[in-house]
Amino acid sequence: MDARQMKIKAAEAALAHVEDGMRLGIGTGSTAEEFVRLLAEKVADGLRIQGVPTSERTARLCLELGVPLKSLEELPELDLTIDGADELDARLRLIKGGGGALLREKIVAAASRKMIVIADETKVVETLGRFPLPIEVNTFGLAATRIAIEKVASALGLTGDIVLRGAAKETFMTDGGHYIFDASFGRIPDAEALSNRLHAIPGVVEHGLFINLASAAVIAGPAGARMLT
Ligand code: 5RP
Repeated sequence: MDARQMKIKAAEAALAHVEDGMRLGIGTGSTAEEFVRLLAEKVADGLRIQGVPTSERTARLCLELGVPLKSLEELPELDLTIDGADELDARLRLIKGGGGALLREKIVAAASRKMIVIADETKVVETLGRFPLPIEVNTFGLAATRIAIEKVASALGLTGDIVLRGAAKETFMTDGGHYIFDASFGRIPDAEALSNRLHAIPGVVEHGLFINLASAAVIAGPAGARMLT
């Protein structure tokens, strides 16, 4: 089974949790896009859902494939969100934001009764931090925000490169008009402490640690999909 087939397996298993009439948060990334493709087939067969996309990219794909969309303003409370992740641990703590949509993804996940993560088994880690942590920041005062992030990390014993995404070519801008720092701290033993301290920095808009948001994960591997709860 290749990487794409595993993403499809995870998406298929998650689709089984989507019920008629649901208000559904729809994630961003290549795994979430496999989910959108399968969801579109169900919608064409008569499944009625109202989707809230977590990015402009996901919104475009949904519109192209005929998945009905609402904004989070119109539907501020959701039944279920299905989204990918860059990394997850056994306690369903996640790193997200590799696709740059972490802010809307977190807002949508927090507005949902349940969040199911779809991923292949390569994303499961013992301790978060193998994937560089995306930190969405205001474009004002970048240097000051970077220094504040370094200080906060260092107080927790974390060091590593903090790179402005896309800086070598064209700085990546999020749907919300912010920049992203990718922080290669390595293992993050206390994700909760890092999360709280990052939130206290004024220039940090949001970060990619998702804690207490996912209710379950569908993990796909060569042998099939398993559920982590
Ligand atoms: C986007 C995300 C994605 O869910 C994450 O990057 C996983 O993407 P993929 O399914 O392509 O590996 O957080 O902001």
